[in-house]
Amino acid sequence: MGDRRPYQVTVSDSSGDKQLPILDGTLGPSAINIQRLYADHDLLAFDPGFRSTASCRSAITFIDGEQGILLYRGYPIEELAEHSNFLEVSYLLMFGELPTSAEAQKFENDVRHHTLLHEQILKFYQGFRRDAHPMAIMVGVVGALSAFYNDDIDQMDRVRREEAAVRLIAKMPTIAAASYAYSVGRPIRYPRNDHSYAANFLQMLFGLPSADYVVDPVLAKAIDLIFLLHADHEQNASTSTVRLAASSGANPIACIASGIASLWGPAHGGANEAVIRMLTEIGTVENIPKAIARAKDKEDPFRLMGFGHRVYKNVDPRARVIQKAAKDVLEHLGIDDPLLDIAIQLEQIALKDEYFVERKLYPNVDFYSGILLRAMGFPTNMFTAVFALARTVGWVSHWLELTQDNHGIGRPRQLYVGHPRRPYPSS
Ligand code: ACO
Repeated sequence: MGDRRPYQVTVSDSSGDKQLPILDGTLGPSAINIQRLYADHDLLAFDPGFRSTASCRSAITFIDGEQGILLYRGYPIEELAEHSNFLEVSYLLMFGELPTSAEAQKFENDVRHHTLLHEQILKFYQGFRRDAHPMAIMVGVVGALSAFYNDDIDQMDRVRREEAAVRLIAKMPTIAAASYAYSVGRPIRYPRNDHSYAANFLQMLFGLPSADYVVDPVLAKAIDLIFLLHADHEQNASTSTVRLAASSGANPIACIASGIASLWGPAHGGANEAVIRMLTEIGTVENIPKAIARAKDKEDPFRLMGFGHRVYKNVDPRARVIQKAAKDVLEHLGIDDPLLDIAIQLEQIALKDEYFVERKLYPNVDFYSGILLRAMGFPTNMFTAVFALARTVGWVSHWLELTQDNHGIGRPRQLYVGHPRRPYPSS
């Protein structure tokens, strides 16, 4: 490291030079430690949008955006996608190591044990309009769940903390499926603990009391893969929201509700829904050049949804895995989705276009995930809810990490640009 970077940097202003130490991680860029910048030098760091800010130390997930690399606890996402499943990866993210088969079995049983919702929680659904977006229902119901588990979450007690985390992972499919069932007027289905995590979600979402629902194992595997690929992504907007909320010591379930709210936006998890709307609007391959021109027009707010990423300046490695899974599932189901053709063509044209090349805008995970979910029968407004379900694992893993390395409440400062002090106008 010493050859590559100085151990400290010098910042100069009118009052002279200040030395700031540099911190090295195991991978990725080093960080200037500015923690004492204000206390020692009466200066603040200005970084709106946090483009150059490392908000914490974390050992969970690593992204090399230039190379298009994503590691969970050191393991490449492609290898986990090939050899592991969502619950094993959840264990890995939460506890740092892949489980042995006995640990995996115990973890799965623990999750199964908590899949039911308190009956009174089901009454909350009745308060929503039938046409409410499932994400709106999820924010509300998960927030409400914090009232049911408040006093028994002792954040100082490791066992209680882990129990709270497992409870959330277990209940999220039940909450998400019920949000959809309510919004379309179907009866809410109970979880089936004789099913795998993924198969149980599918039966709650698509099953009806009037007929048996047989889970297609190919679809169960595909949704498990989607969960796995979305499980964590270091300090993104929703994870940072959860960490900031949790830094005050708030109820972790309420913190997850804040993460769901943050995820909902089209610049973040809501992009998978926006991609399908965009592809539908484009309608035919012939209309692609018009869409590309609009995306490049600075006067037009239209952006190519599913393209670009704050960290990846290369192909998002999850996008490649999902693209292949989407093709396989469409083939398995015998579906010929014109939106897939439009997506593939759009990607190819954009990747050759100077505007996208110059700005390093590549497809992200959301570009193909919507096509896969649509083929599996998921309604568009459930896409982000699926993302929230999966990302709950990342959120709780970061919450567990934060409880052991909390630097106190997260409290950014600001560069004030308003009026200087002035007297109240006399009448
Ligand atoms: N279409 C057209 N132009 C784009 C796009 C896009 N999708 N994304 C970025 N650009 C352009 C910007 O206009 C800007 O151009 P300029 O330098 O000429 O002003 C340049 O590329 C850099 O863009 P920023 O907005 O500064 O990039 P930022 O890191 O802030 O945003 C984001 C990243 C929000 C993901 C953005 O690329 C975007 O809006 N993409 C579409 C939405 C999307 O797919 N979101 C999902 C992200 S992945 C996830 O959350 C799971």
